[in-house]
Amino acid sequence: MSPTEPRGPEVDALLNLLNEQRVFEPSADWRAYAIANDPSVYERAAADPEAFWATFAAELEWSRPWTQVLDWQPPHAKWFVGGQLNASVNCLDRHVRTSRRNTAALIWEGEPGDRRTLTYWDLYRQVCQCANVLKSLGVTKGDRVAIYLPLIPELAIAMLACARIGAVHSVVFGGFSAEALRDRINDAQASLLITADGGYRRGQIVPLKQTADEALTGTPSIQNVLLVRRQPGEMFPVHVKEGRDHWYHRLMQDASADCPAEPMDSEDMLYILYTSGTTGKPKGIVHTTGGYLVGTYATTKWVFDLKDTDVFWCTADIGWVTGHSYVVYGPLQNGATVVMYEGAPDWPSKDRFWEIVERYGVTIFYTAPTAIRAFMKWGTEWPAKRDLSSLRLLGSVGEPINPEAWMWYHEHIGRRRCPVVDTWWQTETGHIMIAPLPGLTSLKPGSATKPFPGIVAEIRTGGGVAVAKGGGLLALTTPWPGMLRGIYGDPARFVDQYWTRWDDGVYFTGDGAHVDEQGDYWLLGRVDDVLNVAGHRLGTSELESALVDHPAVAEAAVVGRPHEIKGQSIAAFVTVKEGIIATAGLSDELKEHVVRKIGAIARPDQILFAADLPKTRSGKIMRRLLRDVAEGKALGDTTTLADPNVIRRLKDEYEALES
Ligand code: WT7
Repeated sequence: MSPTEPRGPEVDALLNLLNEQRVFEPSADWRAYAIANDPSVYERAAADPEAFWATFAAELEWSRPWTQVLDWQPPHAKWFVGGQLNASVNCLDRHVRTSRRNTAALIWEGEPGDRRTLTYWDLYRQVCQCANVLKSLGVTKGDRVAIYLPLIPELAIAMLACARIGAVHSVVFGGFSAEALRDRINDAQASLLITADGGYRRGQIVPLKQTADEALTGTPSIQNVLLVRRQPGEMFPVHVKEGRDHWYHRLMQDASADCPAEPMDSEDMLYILYTSGTTGKPKGIVHTTGGYLVGTYATTKWVFDLKDTDVFWCTADIGWVTGHSYVVYGPLQNGATVVMYEGAPDWPSKDRFWEIVERYGVTIFYTAPTAIRAFMKWGTEWPAKRDLSSLRLLGSVGEPINPEAWMWYHEHIGRRRCPVVDTWWQTETGHIMIAPLPGLTSLKPGSATKPFPGIVAEIRTGGGVAVAKGGGLLALTTPWPGMLRGIYGDPARFVDQYWTRWDDGVYFTGDGAHVDEQGDYWLLGRVDDVLNVAGHRLGTSELESALVDHPAVAEAAVVGRPHEIKGQSIAAFVTVKEGIIATAGLSDELKEHVVRKIGAIARPDQILFAADLPKTRSGKIMRRLLRDVAEGKALGDTTTLADPNVIRRLKDEYEALES
């Protein structure tokens, strides 16, 4: 990994300008009524972070109290040491004993328009039944369960059922390919796969079981498959393999709703979630129970100011960490009413999201900048048609939000009444790390503002010098409850990826950022070989491995290219093998090949065939120069190249293609 320093003077100039112009202070109402409205919380948390987190932990239910808040042996942390608790108890049992028992936990809408509402009591019963079904299929504490489902209530039910019996879930986003699913199942050695006959996306059926069957040809650890019926019609006949595959609804019918929760050690594994890194192989990020629950509980409560009357909608798929933390664990621990929508924002028309906000009276809405930029492009008439007056708070996550998108969101969705909280965090951090507290923080469009109380961030130079004001690499200098505890099955990679950038036990995020005079953070994107395409994280080497896997390809280099809506698009430079002719047909075939290897989210936008790739004398591909070509910029320093003509030729070819 060779992080580059984020660009300097232009960024600074832009930031200063924005800084002077636009600051949104919390209104008097927000100051008075927000859950977090005491400005001294920052100081108090900084003075004693362990006590700060422990106050939130004390609001949860523990079957055995912890004896030590934190045991920190860099880079290994243990939180709430000695404590025992169960995630499903904290999301469900705690609430069914109160008047929340009859309030809606999940309000779900399928893309075709089917609707279901589950109260806390309904959800509790179904989770207990599902937990008993898992047991009947031989799943026990510590076993890994792979979940490959559309965004339907059974996805949350399956996760909580795993948590109830101490099984470790590994949710794989329904858009991933058979191969990607297979690799994840094998890496985790999952014994059970939970999938469905299909799901819906833009009116099309996503044939999950068919894809799963393909994956299951090479997954020896899988003993059983639990199959949820979503009934997507006859287009994709569902194959049920005798002895291995079991219909979920049949087993649920006879399952008891009495299932005592397994007391879990605070540091027992809760889940694994795969994410892309700088090598070809995705990383299984490990989260444990106590700290993760405390971190998601606290941040949901304070950043979203979650109250009993709220209707909370985070639009993320549960296949990503955002869905784990802010569709399932964070809001349910808080006893919230959560909206879940299965499908696309423009199906059947471009006001589907706003129709949902209107129908359920959504009060808190949390989405990604890429979606906001798509809404901007579609035009203000779509939100204008709908009653959005229930909204009181807006959130953004997944990539830097450009100030224009922030302003549009604030104006056309929030109608200037709703604070916008831009929340920076990662799969690895487990929960929000840098974000405003809406009753306290002055908002600046484009800035995620301040670290959450108890979190310590720092901007550093590559050499490890702290930058008080200006740009550099974003570091997290102290441990936090939801931090990843490892990479599944690869302890060396865990240390190497996150903890060796500097030598003082500080976490390297992989992001560049800028801190301004007021201590507000402006995120500038990844500085490593990781792309963020429409809020989806993809490794360039993962994409390159998929390309060179094709028999016609000799070499490939992938770079991100700025994209108006997706943030980044994928540009691939490819050299073909001797005797192969590069045609438009081959280009399409290569795009399909990547989709088959990884999934539709990884489809390259552009393939450029090159005679040669620019390399250093030691043979390393110079991605920086390829990025310059893809961005249409003047070429940077080419003196270290083995053959400077290669890049010049490539630039000419590229420009000819573009014009
Ligand atoms: C990367 C993490 C965290 C949930 C979704 C993505 C980028 C995330 C922001 C933000 C600027 C952001 C970073 C980060 N990112 N949120 N508010 N502003 N950048 O999780 O797939 O683990 O990706 O997403 O680059 O490192 P992820």
